[in-house]
Amino acid sequence: MNQSNLPLLNAMQASASRQSAPFYAPGHKRGKGTPQPLKELLGNQVFQADLPELPELDNLFAPQGVISQAQQLAAEAFGAEETWFLVNGSTAGIMAAILATCDAGDKIIVPRNVHRSVISGLILSGAMPIFIYPESDPAWDLAGSITPEAVETALKQHPDAKAVMVVYPTYHGVCGDLTSIAEIVHRHHLPLLVDEAHGAHFAFHPHFPISALAAGADLTVQSTHKVLGAMTQASMLHCQGNRIDRHRLSQSLQLLQSTSPSYLLLASLDAARQQMAFQGKALLEQTLQLAEHAKTQLKKIPHLKILEPATFATPGFFALDPTRLTVCVANLGMTGYEADEILHTQLGVTAELPTLRQLTFILSIGNTHQDINQLIQSFLKLSPSPHLPISPSPNLPISPATISPREAFFAPAEMVPLEQAGDRISTEIVCPYPPGVPVLVPGEIVTTAALNYLQQVLQAGGTITGCSDPDCKTLKVVKNG
Ligand SMILES: Cc1ncc(COP(=O)(O)O)c(C=O)c1O
Repeated sequence: MNQSNLPLLNAMQASASRQSAPFYAPGHKRGKGTPQPLKELLGNQVFQADLPELPELDNLFAPQGVISQAQQLAAEAFGAEETWFLVNGSTAGIMAAILATCDAGDKIIVPRNVHRSVISGLILSGAMPIFIYPESDPAWDLAGSITPEAVETALKQHPDAKAVMVVYPTYHGVCGDLTSIAEIVHRHHLPLLVDEAHGAHFAFHPHFPISALAAGADLTVQSTHKVLGAMTQASMLHCQGNRIDRHRLSQSLQLLQSTSPSYLLLASLDAARQQMAFQGKALLEQTLQLAEHAKTQLKKIPHLKILEPATFATPGFFALDPTRLTVCVANLGMTGYEADEILHTQLGVTAELPTLRQLTFILSIGNTHQDINQLIQSFLKLSPSPHLPISPSPNLPISPATISPREAFFAPAEMVPLEQAGDRISTEIVCPYPPGVPVLVPGEIVTTAALNYLQQVLQAGGTITGCSDPDCKTLKVVKNG
């Protein structure tokens, strides 16, 4: 295939410049009805290209024209047999992957540190999670991947499971031994589904961990918008082999995605694919150099610790995305949230993910030398604070599941004060965001450790999502009796 082609983007350009009276949605009619402040922010061009499913622009749910061509080019570039464009983020792809592989009551093996979209997929499908607890690195106070051995054990204990899902890489860029996991899962004749939201760039440079498809995944979901040049929400789902029912997958995506997909997002996927096919290696080479420079300089600053593979001590930490930068600030006497606030409001640097002890930065093809210098200079200005030492964050609480996430979500519920929620069954997906890893999952018993953890995050200035009560003072639990 000719990877220089931009079938969707070119078709949109032709439609946008064609003169015709628009009696179709969207109502701004190619910019003429756009509110002035919005036009001032975005310009007019973007509205001329904000087109609906015109005959020449194909249909995301039944692609036969330019969307189909763009998806085929993406499949080739990313190493898949078939690719679906997503306009509702990896969130939609992950939910669809579960709906496509699990019926109500089916078991699916998943790491406990999954993104909340996995829990949404469990609620929608009615599947029952068999959680594997990820390895965590005590020195780093970080959850990593599940190990091949843990997957093997879970499959022996649950031979009736229908699929295995792995997060690869984690938000912090930590990767497990996915090739070995794929081999085990396939030996049990099951599909391996991968949440590769943070790994869309892996296929384009040999210095990254192996891509999920190259490692043998049957299905992988990537947030093209997180690390490549696509627009926010624009993501891809890739498939290979015959362990996934692709018809059911397409139908599942149609349950979850808008019938009015934004062509701006779709065109951004077409362009991001072409950019990576042609310049991916060179662009990532630059990013790798910037990341190396940043790490070398930051390591010289007293009190800072940088996450590097050399510091990995457990098998769940098999590889690291070299462009993901995690800096531990605990020895400065401040939490990640405090450091984030100072960097963002006073020093002109904004991180992706603050946690209790760390800050994580995404370095991508869009970063410049100037950004890296700003980052280094800002850390030089972060002076140690006289606070008490920051205690390690507790591991994700082990809460036994009693009923499926779906049963809990739909069960009669009541609100109880946080301090009385212990030993009750959660109906909510409660998670600090980012990273969006749930501390409470519907169906799990609320433990004291989980409540303490949430309180610690709130006290340290973190954000908790998923509570019906915006102040997180009460929790929605399954009604007794
Ligand atoms: C590990 C992981 N999976 C999935 C998602 C969801 O991706 P999206 O924001 O593209 O819907 C995220 C988002 O942060 C994530 O961190």
